[in-house]
Amino acid sequence: MQVFTVATTPFTDQKPGTSGLRKRVPAFRQAHYLENFVQSIFDTIAAPPGSTLVLGGDGRYYNREAIQIILKMAAANGFGRVLAGKGGILSTPAASCVIRKYRTYGGIILSASHNPGGPDGDFGIKYNTANGGPAPEKITEAIFAASKKIAQYRIVEADDVALDSLGDSQIGDMAVSVIDPVSDYAELMETLFDFPAIRTLLSGGFRVKFDAMHAVTGPYAREIFVNRLGASADSMMNAEPLPDFGGGHPDPNLTYAHELVEALYGDNAPDFGAASDGDGDRNMILGKHFFVTPSDSLAIIAANAHHVPGYKRGLAGIARSMPTSEAADRVAKALNIPCYETPTGWKFFGNLMDAGKVTLCGEESFGTGSDHVREKDGLWAVLFWLNILAVRRQSVENIAREHWARFGRNVYSRHDYENLPANAANGVMKLLRDSFVELRGAQFGHLQVKLCDDFSYTDPVDGSVSTGQGVRILFTDGSRIVFRLSGTGTEGATLRIYLESFEPDVSKHNLDAQEALATLISIALRISELRERTGRDKPTVIT
Ligand code: G1P
Ligand code: ZN
Repeated sequence: MQVFTVATTPFTDQKPGTSGLRKRVPAFRQAHYLENFVQSIFDTIAAPPGSTLVLGGDGRYYNREAIQIILKMAAANGFGRVLAGKGGILSTPAASCVIRKYRTYGGIILSASHNPGGPDGDFGIKYNTANGGPAPEKITEAIFAASKKIAQYRIVEADDVALDSLGDSQIGDMAVSVIDPVSDYAELMETLFDFPAIRTLLSGGFRVKFDAMHAVTGPYAREIFVNRLGASADSMMNAEPLPDFGGGHPDPNLTYAHELVEALYGDNAPDFGAASDGDGDRNMILGKHFFVTPSDSLAIIAANAHHVPGYKRGLAGIARSMPTSEAADRVAKALNIPCYETPTGWKFFGNLMDAGKVTLCGEESFGTGSDHVREKDGLWAVLFWLNILAVRRQSVENIAREHWARFGRNVYSRHDYENLPANAANGVMKLLRDSFVELRGAQFGHLQVKLCDDFSYTDPVDGSVSTGQGVRILFTDGSRIVFRLSGTGTEGATLRIYLESFEPDVSKHNLDAQEALATLISIALRISELRERTGRDKPTVIT
């Protein structure tokens, strides 16, 4: 095996964001761009010679080429074996499952999640550690530091690996095992959920629709819902993965999963609808003419976990990202278990799960999961809901309304302003930070500001501190406004405004969220001068 050491010069922009390094495909295709980042990962993690690595991605454009390059670099960097998903495919939760099951050193996941794909679309790469979770900040920072001083990378010259047939081959001294991307994951799901009960539900006239959005979950959904649970083949939508996601935006929300939304809000609607994103870690849950917010979904899952075999033993605790609504906190309180509030991004949940402090985690951004893996998990959330529905035999809407009646309703919405000029977005954030002193105690109609700050988090397990995680404005009645800049975009800046108020009164639970939040929305616009500073008069996406 001949190893080449290739001289290179650093790129200055390889800083991983909320979830790995994301750039447009043409950026990744620049000479040495991918190689520099991969070598920076290998230099940082310093895996002992002979280690095993997991490798796969969401199948988006450039996935296959990137896999061949990474395989040759892994061989040149002394790995003993790579477990690669057939066709270069591994959903993000499946990659986490495989890393854990085979106790590998770590894994590389190729995905830009819910961002669009194609020759001019987005691509992404991230490193996950031996626990199966995204590398924590101290590792991603070290990778970035390495990328700024890289001078060479190592690669072997070898034929491309045949990724489309299962089995083993060699690149020099390194074995490549092409594995079924679905089976380990499907097996894990069978250990957590009551498959016979769900099968009975589905065979009894309960109708479901699952939208894979032409992304990675198509084959997973077919195997699990159709083959193992008996759902009809036509209950799967857009189940053929495509490198450009059929030109769509593979983000399961009310805007981008509109085909599914139309089916669930139409005449003769199915009883249950769900969708997942580009790499299979997000989920959206719908009932007949009903949308379950991701924050409510986490809370409802927590409150019903005793119905589900894998969680009958009880929950150690719950964690939610700071901007996620406090609905889960109310359930945690009732269950007498702790609820942790972390910065945005799944990487902050890993330590809590590893230390046994939490069982369930969730984010308002359509992410829900548990300690069965160390990523959020779209199909897991769908199966959790189906298991609850199989036991309770009520509609999705009834389950949600009963939940609100018991715990109160945390009315919630997120307004995204996408693709803003960076200086306008930064100006808004600076203005807010500069206004903390005058905002404290300020009165807006019946609402009074109790606290405002820039959220910072001290990890209770390793003591690491993350600052600047979003501006919070908390009111005395429990309402909240949060402002954050996205860390996953590749173009301009995206400003997110998160809005929440608490409604204990059942007679008001029917209110539309935008109406119920109208006062908070207008306060948010006023104090941020968002319209004046960006020239935008409405959000790009409302979830
Ligand atoms: C977004 C979501 C965040 C999620 C991340 C990765 O990050 O807001 O909750 O963990 O995608 O899926 P953001 O763009 O806000 O930094
Ligand atoms: Zn994703």
